[in-house]
Amino acid sequence: MVCEAAREQETVRSQDVVGDRFFRQMVQCMRNGVLAITRDGRIAVMNEHAYRVFGLEPAASDIGRPFVDLLRDQPDVVRILGSAFELNHLPNRAELRLKATRKVIGYTLSHIEDEEGELIGAALFFKDLTRVEQIEERERLRDRLAALGEMAAAMSHELKNPLAGIEITAGLLKRQVPDSPDLQQLVADIISEAKLANAIVLEVLEFVRPIRLEMERTSIAQVLHDAVRLAETKVNRRDVAVTMSVQSHLPLIQGDHHQLCRLFMNLLINAFEALDGNGTVAICAAAGPPEEEHGAGPDAQLVPTVVIELTDNGPGVPPDITDRIFNPFFTTKPQGSGLGLAIVRKIVDAHDGRIDVTSSAGHGTTFRVTLPMSTRTNWYE
Ligand SMILES: Nc1ncnc2c1ncn2[C@@H]1O[C@H](COP(=O)(O)OP(=O)(O)OP(=O)(O)O)[C@@H](O)[C@H]1O
Ligand SMILES: [Mg+2]
Repeated sequence: MVCEAAREQETVRSQDVVGDRFFRQMVQCMRNGVLAITRDGRIAVMNEHAYRVFGLEPAASDIGRPFVDLLRDQPDVVRILGSAFELNHLPNRAELRLKATRKVIGYTLSHIEDEEGELIGAALFFKDLTRVEQIEERERLRDRLAALGEMAAAMSHELKNPLAGIEITAGLLKRQVPDSPDLQQLVADIISEAKLANAIVLEVLEFVRPIRLEMERTSIAQVLHDAVRLAETKVNRRDVAVTMSVQSHLPLIQGDHHQLCRLFMNLLINAFEALDGNGTVAICAAAGPPEEEHGAGPDAQLVPTVVIELTDNGPGVPPDITDRIFNPFFTTKPQGSGLGLAIVRKIVDAHDGRIDVTSSAGHGTTFRVTLPMSTRTNWYE
């Protein structure tokens, strides 16, 4: 009897001990964000994943703090949590883009009740969907490009021969009119237009061809310097000032030096063109926060990243076209082919990176490129 009572007591005690620590650790280690508040609006639980998604540093003293205070940079989350005690039907599997970090979260909001059914708090469970969203967007884009690419490749092949024919025939015609400068000029114009059309055809063919990366230890600083030099050979930057700030001891990344130069050269050309000879371009490169490695499924590891920002103080991208600027053949320039940013995105995708743009009319444009570094190496400049 004594023995049984002791055993029972022991079980209760171990359940208590295991229960408390176990549940606390379980919540801490979850790969979903968990954030719970009390009925009077104080933080009761916030796990590591939640801190990471909100871009905050974990601190034990946060427990008990008003959530409006701790989450003041996340007004949408504050609004959702604030509504928890007024709603009967709480959002389930809803999505939200966090303004501060531009991350997308999928969330479920639940009431917390005590044993008597009294409402004592609310809990937000969420998952960072940014990567999922990007992968879906990338797949959609890839499908679109595949269809478009097939058509463009077929058309370009068909166009190549007649264009060459026009150029050759115009050359023969030019020789027939040696004494007429006016006719010579007209034929020269035909030849140069045919050459331009041919260059576009070649560019399209080059664009639709899959990228084969030649991966090597690549210095981002070197890439950026080479890209500036290349962009200057393509566009006369006149009075545009370029400043560059690269974090010292930035690790080398695994990348294709030549393709990365093309990427930043295209961004720089666009900036120079937007500035039209006057203004500034600031290039900034630094280590970014670790991110889940791309396409590794549920076992994705966190890998270090490098973030390169290119900001111009030009006219900005009008909000109604921001969604389209990466589409192939989208251009607002009379002489543009609209392939510059499509190529940029293709190179970023091939490196498992990501590109974001922030712009507002009259306040310039920032393109932010995030590239993963290699985790298995210790290559430093
Ligand atoms: N830094 C920028 N500032 C303002 N608008 C920009 C900027 N970069 C790109 N854009 C807009 O995005 C559009 C698409 O750019 P993209 O580089 O793909 O093509 P393009 O520059 O028009 O032509 P191409 O690069 O093929 O010569 C541009 O026409 C322009 O409207
Ligand atoms: Mg361009």
